[in-house]
This record gives sequence, C-alpha cells and structure tokens, in this order.
Amino acid sequence: MKKVRVRLGRSGYTIHIGAGLLSETGRLLRETGLDGKAIIITDPAVRDFYGTSLKQSLTAQGFKTTLLEVPEGEQHKSLETAGRLYGELAAAGAERNTPVIALGGGVIGDLAGFVAATYMRGVPFVQAPTTLLAQVDSSVGGKVAVDHGKLKNMVGAFYQPRLVVSDVGSLTTLPAEQLANGLSEVIKHAIIRDPEFFTYFEENIDRIKALDEKALEHIVARSVEIKAQVVEKDEKDLGLRNILNFGHTIGHAVESVLDFGIAHGQAVAIGMMAACRISADMGVLEKTEIPRIRKLLRRAGLRTKLPGVDVARVLEAMKHDKKVADGKVKLVLIRTLGDVFLSADVDTAIVEKALVSLR
Ligand SMILES: NC(=O)c1ccc[n+]([C@@H]2O[C@H](COP(=O)([O-])OP(=O)(O)OC[C@H]3O[C@@H](n4cnc5c(N)ncnc54)[C@H](O)[C@@H]3O)[C@@H](O)[C@H]2O)c1
Ligand SMILES: [Zn+2]
Repeated sequence: MKKVRVRLGRSGYTIHIGAGLLSETGRLLRETGLDGKAIIITDPAVRDFYGTSLKQSLTAQGFKTTLLEVPEGEQHKSLETAGRLYGELAAAGAERNTPVIALGGGVIGDLAGFVAATYMRGVPFVQAPTTLLAQVDSSVGGKVAVDHGKLKNMVGAFYQPRLVVSDVGSLTTLPAEQLANGLSEVIKHAIIRDPEFFTYFEENIDRIKALDEKALEHIVARSVEIKAQVVEKDEKDLGLRNILNFGHTIGHAVESVLDFGIAHGQAVAIGMMAACRISADMGVLEKTEIPRIRKLLRRAGLRTKLPGVDVARVLEAMKHDKKVADGKVKLVLIRTLGDVFLSADVDTAIVEKALVSLR
C-alpha cells in the first residue's frame, strides 16, 4: 500500500493506493473523521463489480449507506442528472456532514464531485476511482464538472476530496482499451516530469499490461505524485498546471474532428507525437528522442499515427477552440524527457507539417 499526500493547506488530503483497498474504505473514512450516513454514487457496471464490497466495508464501520446509480456514459454527466441526484440525496436524508463517495471512472468522479460541491453548499467528497484514467488523473486535482450541451466540463468548480481510495485491484476488470486510455496520461506524466519513471515504464510495460499489482501500484503512485506536485503549485490552474496539457491541444482537436469517435488517451498519444515533432522541428528537442517515445506509446497500445482525417480540419478545430490566433498557437513543447514548457507562439505552418508527417 502506498500513500501520497496532496499539500493544499486546509484542503489537503491523502490518496491511498493499493490492491484490495475498497474493502478498507469504511476504516479509512473513519480515520478521516467521517461517520454517520454515507452515499455511494456509481454506475451499474461498476456496482456489479465493486458496489457490494464497498457497501459492506462502510456498513461494517457503522455507516448507514445508500447507493445511488447513474447510467453509464458521458451523456449522463449533466445538470439534469445532478438535479435528480440532489433529490435522491435529500430523500436519503443526506446532511451537511454526509460524505458522497464516487465509485467509478472519471464520469462518475466529475459528476459526484460536482454534486458534493453544491449540495447544501458542499458536503464531504470521497473519490474511489476504478479506471486507470480516474486513478491517475481525474481523481487528483479537485476539478469537478458536468457538461452543458456540447460543451464539455462547462459548469463546475474546484472542490478537493477529503480522501482518495485507489484500489488497483479494480483495474483487473477494466477492458484493455480503457487501460491504454489511462496509460496515455501516465506516460504523459513521465514525459513532462520524470525521465527515470519513463525508463521504469520501458522496462516494465509487459508487467503493467499483465496487470501485475505491484507494477500498477507503482505507476499509479508515481503518476499521482507528479500530478499532485503540479497541482500544489497551481491549484486554480493559472500557470504551471498547463504543462499537464502536453499533447492535449492537438489531441482535443483530433477528438473533435472525429466527433469523439476516438478514445481521449489515443488522441492525446497522437497529440504528444505531434508536440514532439514540432519541438524537433523548432530545434528544441533532439530528433533522436522521438523514436523512443513513439516506441513506448505503441507498446502501451496507443496510436502514434493520425487516422484518416483531414489535417486542415484539425487546424480548423484548433482555431475554433480559440487556441489559434493570427496563425499562431501556444503549445506545450518538450526539450528533453522530463523538461517541457509552454511555448511562445508557434506558427500553424509548423503544426501542419508535423500533422502531415504523422499521416
Ligand atoms: N476532473 C478532471 O481533472 C478530469 C481529468 C481527466 C478526465 N476527466 C473526465 O473523466 C471522464 C472519463 O473518465 P474515464 O476514462 O474513467 O471513463 P468513464 O468514467 O466513462 O468509465 C469508462 C467505462 O468503464 C467502466 N468501468 C469503470 N471502472 C471499471 C472497472 N474497474 N472494471 C470494468 N469497467 C469499469 C464504466 O462503467 C464506464 O463504462 C471524462 O468525463 C473526462 O472529462 C476529468
Ligand atoms: Zn487527458
């Protein structure tokens, strides 16, 4: 078992990482000073796998537990669902000190966090992430939100959890494409901050893909440490936190051109490759580093080539996203493994050249 502390003054919290931790959640909640009632918010698939063990662990510690369900899928991360959940919380007798526990992937975490942040002006929030992406990314950093119409994460807040319980044992039921999706963000964390972690990955990728618990525990803990360090320095996303967007500006444009028909992690992998090409083209990254990054992404089950999309449309999507102004764009570029920075304006012609080279 590993623990990572996120130091944010009075809003600081501990992330617990280990196999089998869901059945320890009741005890961990008690140690955090919570008791009384507890509300679990989850989806039907995750409930079938893990709902009972979480509920039992809470009941065993004297919590009066209610489990609320939201159907699977991003389309339910909405104000409408939040509205329904407020009613269900009230009906369950949730009070100002009643913890809301998000059991599931990033969709459940973002939605339940938004509900916890707003119900009665905020109740204690606990994250129990069950996808790799949620364990290494969305459960850390305190961003909670719902979508509004076509606009992702349009309505939200910064609201830190009281506790995060990441049971890496829950990753054994995750479909392979969901694992790859999360690995993309883990590799991103290694690239932006930690060359040794990148090497660990190269040496252990087969163990990781075989879901070896020790290897999973290590990559989740190291990944979370890196994200926590960045978040501690820039809680409200005003500066340093933008390095977490490595691969994301171009990745988001690819997602939008493909109408979200590509997994986020896959689009980010393509975006990271594009950022590497651009960095090399601008003379800040040694070209010889690129094959190493490409090889690891591919071994992790990620794409490094742009699927059949029109490069002009990707550039257009970046414009739409207000990322491009006067033919220039700000991107997170890389000098070497572990060293990235937000660029001054990059010419879109260079972005175009990089995208064409990834066809
Ligand atoms: N708040 C943040 O900082 C932040 C960061 C990144 C992403 N996000 C958000 O996260 C969401 C994506 O999260 P996600 O990738 O976890 O997807 P998800 O929450 O949609 O989960 C994917 C699927 O996996 C299933 N699932 C979850 N855990 C499982 C398990 N252990 N075994 C088997 N199946 C399981 C779920 O039922 C769901 O169908 C997006 O809404 C995105 O905006 C938020
Ligand atoms: Zn991402």
